[in-house]
Amino acid sequence: MRKDTRLTTAGRSPEANHGIVNPPVYHASTVTFPNIAALKEGQRNPFESVHYGRFGTPTTHAFEGAVAALEGGHRGISMPSGLAAITGALMALVKAGDHLLVTDSVYFPTRKFCDQVLTRLGVDTTYYDPRAGAGIADLMRPNTVAVFTESPGSLSFEVQDLPAIAKAAHAGGAVAILDNTWSAGYFLAPFELGIDISIQAATKFIVGHSDAMLGCITVADEALYRVLKESVTISGVCAGPDDCYLGLRGLRSLAPRLARHQASGLAVAEWLERRPEVAAVLHPALPSFPDHALWKRDFSGACGLFGVVLADRFDETARDAFLDALTLFALGYSWGGYESLAIPTRPATIRSATAWPHRGPSLRLHVGLDDPEDLKADLEAGFAALNRAA
Ligand SMILES: Cc1ncc(COP(=O)(O)O)c(C=O)c1O
Repeated sequence: MRKDTRLTTAGRSPEANHGIVNPPVYHASTVTFPNIAALKEGQRNPFESVHYGRFGTPTTHAFEGAVAALEGGHRGISMPSGLAAITGALMALVKAGDHLLVTDSVYFPTRKFCDQVLTRLGVDTTYYDPRAGAGIADLMRPNTVAVFTESPGSLSFEVQDLPAIAKAAHAGGAVAILDNTWSAGYFLAPFELGIDISIQAATKFIVGHSDAMLGCITVADEALYRVLKESVTISGVCAGPDDCYLGLRGLRSLAPRLARHQASGLAVAEWLERRPEVAAVLHPALPSFPDHALWKRDFSGACGLFGVVLADRFDETARDAFLDALTLFALGYSWGGYESLAIPTRPATIRSATAWPHRGPSLRLHVGLDDPEDLKADLEAGFAALNRAA
């Protein structure tokens, strides 16, 4: 089945549910058994059975199966947020004395978790240049257990050479992990590129309506599934059934929503590129973007999240005046919903392995499902305020 049909069919079975199109939501802690043999069987086979709410129910399994079908992975593990999916995967893989390689462009809370929690547990993190590619081999140590990628970086948008990085990770005995939220699992097939663990903040495009926190870890094989699932369940972490239902419902309309985010995002990005107030638009699908060729090689499309660097003559106060003048773009630390969003960014301050090449103040836009002409008019008002404040 092709991707769009997988999205409309995976994780549902009307014939098992009175013909009803969508699967029911199972709210469950306790599962009861008809006899002691059945109870013991559930314990013997915790990865396959429904025997206690925390381990999963038909609702969580349906969501996990649908995301795995979308990404072309083996199995999925639903998590209560995207960050929980990241930290849950890392906690399953590391022990004291281990080493991690993490891209310098990583989502800031992922960096914070490595620096504050994993450091305390005796796990050492080295941040690497997102554009290192095969050069990652030089940074591998005998105790490197995982190479964490995020492509494109969700603030700075560097596209990573995932096949080269995965190859170097595997040669050194490490697993390759990807934060695949930007592609929504739709515009990039991680397992075809050698990634072992693909993580998504389903909070963003999969849920798509800004009304639930949800994450998903999808793995390449059963051995990894067992290591991660065991660790996640023993840590007491599980996603709520209503949130999994919302994730599953979001998947049904993911393809047309992403098509619209892509088209409107590009229309706005191209328009911004022509503005004299703009020094650079950080959008991998623009030919002017330094990693455009890599994006074209590995991705089949782009979402509506990208960065904007203003000309050097503006300062952050003027940038803030620009943001304050927007009315359709709301100010909010998220993306992936139907509504358009903007935030100020300071990528220079949260990097340690690489220098930020731009001098002007920056911001990030999430182009939602609004009419792009209205969004341009909103940005036009922002530019008027920017020029007044300069
Ligand atoms: C790239 C990326 N990964 C992970 C997350 C975390 O997701 P959540 O907010 O669901 O914990 C975010 C949230 O903004 C993100 O942007």
